[in-house]
Amino acid sequence: MNDYNKKTLTDLVNLKPLLWENPNKINMREALEFLPLKYKDIIDASNRLERFAPLIRKLFPETKDGIIESPLVTGYNFTKILESTYNKSIKGRVLLKCDNNLKVAGSIKARGGIYEVLKHAEKIALDNKLLYLNDDYSNLASPKFKNLFSKHKIAVGSTGNLGLSIGIMSAVLGFKVDVHMSNDAKEWKKNLLREKGVNVIEYDDDYSKAVEEGRKQCKKDSMAFFIDDENSKDLFLGYSVAALRLKTQLEKQKVVVDKDHPLYVYLPCGVGGAPGGITFGLKHIYGDNVHCYFVEPTHAPCMVLGLITEKLSDVSVKEYGIDNITEADGLAVSSPSNLVAKIADKLIDGIYTIEDRELFNLLKLLKDSEDIKVEPSAASSLLGPVLIDSHNNSTHISWLTGGALLPKEEYKKMYQRGR
Ligand SMILES: Cc1ncc(COP(=O)(O)O)c(C=O)c1O
Repeated sequence: MNDYNKKTLTDLVNLKPLLWENPNKINMREALEFLPLKYKDIIDASNRLERFAPLIRKLFPETKDGIIESPLVTGYNFTKILESTYNKSIKGRVLLKCDNNLKVAGSIKARGGIYEVLKHAEKIALDNKLLYLNDDYSNLASPKFKNLFSKHKIAVGSTGNLGLSIGIMSAVLGFKVDVHMSNDAKEWKKNLLREKGVNVIEYDDDYSKAVEEGRKQCKKDSMAFFIDDENSKDLFLGYSVAALRLKTQLEKQKVVVDKDHPLYVYLPCGVGGAPGGITFGLKHIYGDNVHCYFVEPTHAPCMVLGLITEKLSDVSVKEYGIDNITEADGLAVSSPSNLVAKIADKLIDGIYTIEDRELFNLLKLLKDSEDIKVEPSAASSLLGPVLIDSHNNSTHISWLTGGALLPKEEYKKMYQRGR
């Protein structure tokens, strides 16, 4: 391990917030050769979501066009309050990507989770010769398909939000669903799932254990399909489609991204699938002109630990005396995804870690300045513009990854913890 990574490891173990710049990052042209997935895979995923739009529109009219997407807004007031709070002038503009308002499941995990459920449903329907690619997919809401899907089970391990996205979509299509939940999953998320008809299985252990158990149980059942957040390429591709959509939004807002106008994106990281998929998509579009930083809690820094120790997914923060206990429940993960750690090692620009108390401060600042409600995991992305040096032509995007479904009382307590 080089001296820089050794020093980072010491700070990590001491729970000191840090910014780690990735020394292994290579340029996009070189990276393209070794990446296990290609641009055409992102397009394939995007096309599949288009095919499903009529069905989503029927099942969730609030999506209007059947495309589950969130707005990109200017954080002008937030930037001012951030500058005065942290006593730093921020160069360039700050935009907020509002996945906290993503329809259907209220978090970034809707992108991958819903995509993989739809892909699985499509495969079953095609295999049974009840559906053809050119059909109107809104037919999938009919009793004939519900009956077909009811013979199948979908299962997933989750800290909460992935369970919500997969649980909600699977249940509405008629699948049986098991969501294996870690001990950091919030009660209200479990209750919401039960209301939707999902079978919630609770563990007095962390996320890795919930995933391991879920995977094991599914192996014994030939009609069960396990959505594996630690390895799934489909989840990853579902997230990556966000990059295509973001490109359209930036163009509409006349935001230029090139060598002289760099884009900085801050992405909260748990197991790594969501931030990894989005980084993968953005690097395909903007190459080396986009700089992607992951964000982890000081008490659950599994991705940075996997990368600096070079153990990738074969590591747990607990081996280093870090407890994996954080209010950012979506990021409470002790070991990173194997698929993503390998890709992130070469693609991401860096990772910063953040203390829980800072999450509540940022959550409150955002509410006070922009009236936007986010959960603590999402608030972690808001510190990026303060930490990363930029110039006036830069654009920063803080990815607000969740919060819409938070019950009022829960949110009030979080807001009150902010400074
Ligand atoms: C709100 C929120 N943000 C970010 C993430 C991180 O996503 P991933 O675990 O794919 O890294 C999660 C994961 O559940 C989440 O719930």
